[in-house]
Amino acid sequence: MNRKYDLGALVKPLCLWYGKNKRSMPWRDDPTPYHVWLSEIMLQQTRIEAAKAYYERFVRELPDVEALARVSEDELLKLWEGLGYYNRARNLQKAAKLIVERHDGRLPADYGLLMELPGIGSYTAGAVASIAYGIPAPAVDGNVLRVTMRWLGCGDDISRAAVRREMERSIMEVIPRERPGEFNQALMELGEVVCIPNGMPLCSQCPAAGNCEARAAGRQMELPVKPGKKARRIEKRTILVLEWEGRILIRRRPDTGLLAGMWEFPALEGHLTLPQLQKFLRESGTEAVKVEPMESGKHIFSHVEWHMRGYRAVLRGSNIPQELAGVPVWADRTELKGIYAIPAAFRSFLQQL
Ligand code: ADE
Repeated sequence: MNRKYDLGALVKPLCLWYGKNKRSMPWRDDPTPYHVWLSEIMLQQTRIEAAKAYYERFVRELPDVEALARVSEDELLKLWEGLGYYNRARNLQKAAKLIVERHDGRLPADYGLLMELPGIGSYTAGAVASIAYGIPAPAVDGNVLRVTMRWLGCGDDISRAAVRREMERSIMEVIPRERPGEFNQALMELGEVVCIPNGMPLCSQCPAAGNCEARAAGRQMELPVKPGKKARRIEKRTILVLEWEGRILIRRRPDTGLLAGMWEFPALEGHLTLPQLQKFLRESGTEAVKVEPMESGKHIFSHVEWHMRGYRAVLRGSNIPQELAGVPVWADRTELKGIYAIPAAFRSFLQQL
């Protein structure tokens, strides 16, 4: 062993455990490269249980790379609605188009070529290569780093790219050549169900507890080391659900930045009180028959939190304040649910309609 992290003694107990304990998941039943790719991208932003329904619907509508390459952006975003990080969906489609152009519609069976595709980094390339093609390649995500760093009792900072790369090289030393995908998934799975992230890991259920350094030293809760992230910025917003003749106003967000190109309810900066909002509407010439508060909402993005106060206003005409307009659309309730992709950040307001 000439690598920094020696994982040799972890392989056998882990693979035995996985053979007996692996959970059933729709993408595991038929692990084509397309299925593995799609599921891995979805799992980067949601839990396995929540991903299942999205995954099933997505492959029903877009069963292969060609279908994904051809679908309209609106339909694609609608299928992704609620998963968040919409650029992931856009990158999926960009990659699908390249796969059709360059690789005849089949994901390449090559780690390096996979890495050249938009949205595919070392983790996803490793997962597709190993799970779908049986190619020995590491797939190191947060789960894998947690499991391995605890088992090694190692305090290296896992947010450093160099540490991740070293872990990838170390995994390559020990990954079973005949079933690399099983080994990678065993590591992920142990991290998801036993060596869990928040709270005390379930060491009594762990196949590798006997030689786990963190457990021997009682350091399970200190590892892995990942210096605190910067606190998220908090943005106060006032969300306006404007209704006119049974239709609701939505507008398209700018093409760049947070939730680029998605549909949203118009909003004002800050938290307006009811009288402040009434004054704002009056002064901008908007005649409201009724204005009432809605339940507040909160949404957490990676770097920002939106703390949202909401109002529903029934308008007498379709005139609206200039600064709210953007590219406005008056959508009825069926269109809101069926056509326009409205991000999860607004879900609580949508549900109150
Ligand atoms: N988490 C992400 N991908 C996974 C997979 N293929 N198996 C288990 N857990 C995962």
